[in-house]
Amino acid sequence: MRKILLSLLLMPMMAWAGSVKSPNGNIELKFSVDNTGRPVYEMTYKGCEVVKPSFLGLELAKDKHASMGLQEHDLMDGFTIAKEETSTFDETWQPVWGETKDIRNHYNELAVTLNQHWLGKRPVSANGAQKAPRQHRRTIVIRFRVYDDGIGLRYEFPQQEELNYFLIKEERTEFAMAGDHTAWWLPGDYDTQEQETQETKLSEIRSRMKEAVNWGNSSVAVFSPTGVQTSLQMKSDAIDIDGKRRNLYINIHEAACLDYATMHLELVDAETKALTTQLGGGSNAYTPNPQPSPWPLPKAFTFVSHLTPDATGLKGCMQTPCETPWRTVMVSDDARDMLSSNLILNLNEPCKLEDTSWIHPTKYCGVWWEMIVGRGSWHYTNDFPSIKLDQIDWSSVKPNGTHKANNENVKRYIDFAAKNGLDEVLVEGWNVGWEDWANMWKRDVFDFVTPYPDFDIKMLNDYAHSKGVKILMHHETSSSAQNYERHIKEAYELMNKYGYDAVKTGYVGDIIPRGDHHYSQSMNNHYLYVVKEAAKHHIMVNAHEATRPTGICRTYPNLVGNESARGTEYEAFGGSRPDHTCILPFTRLQGGPMDYTPGIFVTKLSEWSDNTSWARITIAGSLALYLTMYSPLQMAADLPENYEKFDDAFQFIRDVACDWDESIYLEAEPADYITVARKAKGTDNWFIGGKCDENGHQSVIKLDFLDKGRQYDCTIYADAKGAHYETNPQAYTITKKTVKAGQTLKLQEAPGGGFAISLIAR
Ligand code: NOJ
Ligand code: CA
Repeated sequence: MRKILLSLLLMPMMAWAGSVKSPNGNIELKFSVDNTGRPVYEMTYKGCEVVKPSFLGLELAKDKHASMGLQEHDLMDGFTIAKEETSTFDETWQPVWGETKDIRNHYNELAVTLNQHWLGKRPVSANGAQKAPRQHRRTIVIRFRVYDDGIGLRYEFPQQEELNYFLIKEERTEFAMAGDHTAWWLPGDYDTQEQETQETKLSEIRSRMKEAVNWGNSSVAVFSPTGVQTSLQMKSDAIDIDGKRRNLYINIHEAACLDYATMHLELVDAETKALTTQLGGGSNAYTPNPQPSPWPLPKAFTFVSHLTPDATGLKGCMQTPCETPWRTVMVSDDARDMLSSNLILNLNEPCKLEDTSWIHPTKYCGVWWEMIVGRGSWHYTNDFPSIKLDQIDWSSVKPNGTHKANNENVKRYIDFAAKNGLDEVLVEGWNVGWEDWANMWKRDVFDFVTPYPDFDIKMLNDYAHSKGVKILMHHETSSSAQNYERHIKEAYELMNKYGYDAVKTGYVGDIIPRGDHHYSQSMNNHYLYVVKEAAKHHIMVNAHEATRPTGICRTYPNLVGNESARGTEYEAFGGSRPDHTCILPFTRLQGGPMDYTPGIFVTKLSEWSDNTSWARITIAGSLALYLTMYSPLQMAADLPENYEKFDDAFQFIRDVACDWDESIYLEAEPADYITVARKAKGTDNWFIGGKCDENGHQSVIKLDFLDKGRQYDCTIYADAKGAHYETNPQAYTITKKTVKAGQTLKLQEAPGGGFAISLIAR
């Protein structure tokens, strides 16, 4: 009893100034300023703490240009509440493509206007007399939106005399967790997000960090021994909720990251002495300014926002009026709600493109996997130690014989796509410059318009179009971002001329201009510039290695895909754990679809190449990914000849839709299993996919979502008895039957396996 009283006395007693509840009342958000004028908020779910009292604010960088105004004073304290406004919003909108036809955007809002006052230094006049100190005043708004599945909060900076331009040293948004949750996390890194996910308690992040970082990517820039990326999925220990012992699923991410740096989270744990310490990393690890933050260190288990710096070390260069992205916290006691949430999309602006008729979900194959695996090359010649694009007469260069983007091979893929109803064929390595493209810090690496001599751009596009197929453009930038911007107009005009309507971009290696990082404000502006330029040319974009998405595909739906995580290519670089695809929908996919490039059927790559790596998945599991890894862009990544060996299983890839009217998550547990049923756009047909981790999973599916009284032709692609991702990945069964609403299907998923079902309405 004495202990409880003592801890109550030690708890900050916050007198909350305002509060707002979610439409169903489950989530409550409270706000106030403390006695030093620091903004503070708290979030609960069904009365349980999700975010304990946490401070909000931004540290500003010293302004070296007097014209920018007086910004030495941080936006951290000295605030008083000038106004609190609450409102309700409820609207249903239709995405151009998506998991559902309709999306309801229903929230209650609290907008708090805060005034900040402080006394400036006493100025000295020309005759040496001291003048009265100046009274300064700034105003910001902190806006909270409270949904049934989580909250969003952001800072808004109205234009005003004392806040026109300002520089962000660090954003200090805190998320104080209520316990030592289990977390699925990636090391916080300014340049890569292609690591395997770590599963640890929050208190174990520090001890796991070195191992998590040591994975051999070429661009690693880690900033803290407890820094992690978003979207961060967590699970609490069981607590009392509604009279039952339940776990809370909590997810922290961001929405609408526009003209701003990507956010990471730095965990304050028992050993933290100061925020932002340096761990080190790969060759170009950033060395941040090691000054500790002058603001008090939050309590253990608090995450604090940590933005990606640009080449100057700055985290943001702002001009008012402006706002930060939304900081999001999703919560539920049902893991399925993490997957069906539309919180991130809802916090983005509506579509800004007037005409979207040219944007379409796309199934594609590509001249790709054979290079990734190492059986062919992107480059055309081996005869030069290095390439200067304007000094080579490509017509007289000796070919190396391994170049895969050649007319004959590309035609083979076009034929395969046409035969199997795939919309497009990605061709990588079609353009000059691949001889020395990566990790050379070379500015003029590609021009994006000159094909190699064995790639006849006109003939191949004509050939593809004559068969109802399009070629999908590839623009690897090698992270020479300004080089891409210099060439982009010509590059997109070339695409328009030959009838390409989609581009896969890539940002391998360190960013040029040198010193910048993949997720800085300047690079985020670059990626958006590309998407907007592409939209002007009616081109869809699928950006690899670009910043992790934050739902801006709602505003610019021609951003149909991103990689921004560890994709299937890693199955050729040593492999990914079998639970990897049972985590990604909880984390990376929160912000938008991933071009995961699924569909590997011949998982032991040594069966057709010298590569000894292997994919940790069964064939049935590979089919499931077309459902569980939602994307309007789906690749059939394996080789045509590998699919021909398993043509009956490939039938599912031919049939499966990639745009949906309805999606129902039937089962979900992070890193264990995901089962989802989806209704194909504009039809009465359903597809169901289930994917599990290395332990296998038994799935029981009640078909109560089907139309009553209707019959469906059901085809089930399942792991056969004895199937196993390592020892027996190609053992599957195909069963056909007629089913109707109300029936139950029982499916056994093998270790590393899954299942896929098509239900075609009669
Ligand atoms: C990395 C991308 O993720 C991969 O898909 C692509 O083939 C290579 N870069 C080359 O651009
Ligand atoms: Ca990649």
